[in-house]
Amino acid sequence: MTTLIDVAIRPVGNGFGAEVVGLDLARPLDDATRRAVYAGFVRHHVLAFRDQRLTPDQQIAFTEQFGTLERHIARNRGAGNPLVHVVSNLGADGRPSGKVGSTRWHTDKSFRPEPSLATILHAVTMPPDGGDTCFADMAAAYAALSDADKAALDGVRVVHSWELSRQKIGERATPEEIRDAPPMSHPLVRIHPDSGAKSLFMGEHASHIDGRPIEEGRARLAALEAHATQERFLYRHRWRAGDLLMWDNRCLLHRADTNFDAARHARVLHRTCLRGTAPA
Ligand code: OGA
Ligand code: MN
Repeated sequence: MTTLIDVAIRPVGNGFGAEVVGLDLARPLDDATRRAVYAGFVRHHVLAFRDQRLTPDQQIAFTEQFGTLERHIARNRGAGNPLVHVVSNLGADGRPSGKVGSTRWHTDKSFRPEPSLATILHAVTMPPDGGDTCFADMAAAYAALSDADKAALDGVRVVHSWELSRQKIGERATPEEIRDAPPMSHPLVRIHPDSGAKSLFMGEHASHIDGRPIEEGRARLAALEAHATQERFLYRHRWRAGDLLMWDNRCLLHRADTNFDAARHARVLHRTCLRGTAPA
């Protein structure tokens, strides 16, 4: 078993993001290591575990050491295990389609009553370069607001909707998806349950401000997102073979970058999510 002594957590971004070397995630973590990993995750928001090669079952076992696995009901293309979601640019014919999903700033499953705590994404096949994943620090973005702007966000709630977020990109949610994910209201500023830090909670699935005209709310959210995704709040993850990322959905936005030729190169990753708690 790997012990804590062998594990190094080193910052890689400017501000947040860290790499973890010396751990084999295919094996169970002892208690002290698991706690150190979780503490590192809370502190750095994104952990990149290097040199992993996990089967879907091993990825599920790794994920479950930190809480409850979230199931994916709709649109799952399966990795041989229904609890692992395949993130891929391949078409039905198995060839690169040119299409990349999740390219808008979002936080996973924010339309759920208990949005994801963490997402775990493991590189399976990556393009020769590019295909980065970008992160924005919503705690730093909140902290950088003026006192007056912070006060104006006090008590504001946002309606998150899978149906409306599909509409915004010219897609249609199916009746089953709509039943499965009714609109959900969450505070715009949430308090991190572990660190106590306040952060902005919004992104692609955030439709409008609860109790305000839709257009007014959308304009306010767009302005806030423009503030929160400035370069100074970002970490860009350049994937290496064997990387497994674990990020904190409670205080980050993320998106896939299209900085590769998606009609030519395959980009395939395996994804698991941990269920979170109701934002407060
Ligand atoms: C996700 C996601 C981004 C990427 O899996 O939730 O947003 O870079 N992925 O593929
Ligand atoms: Mn996502």
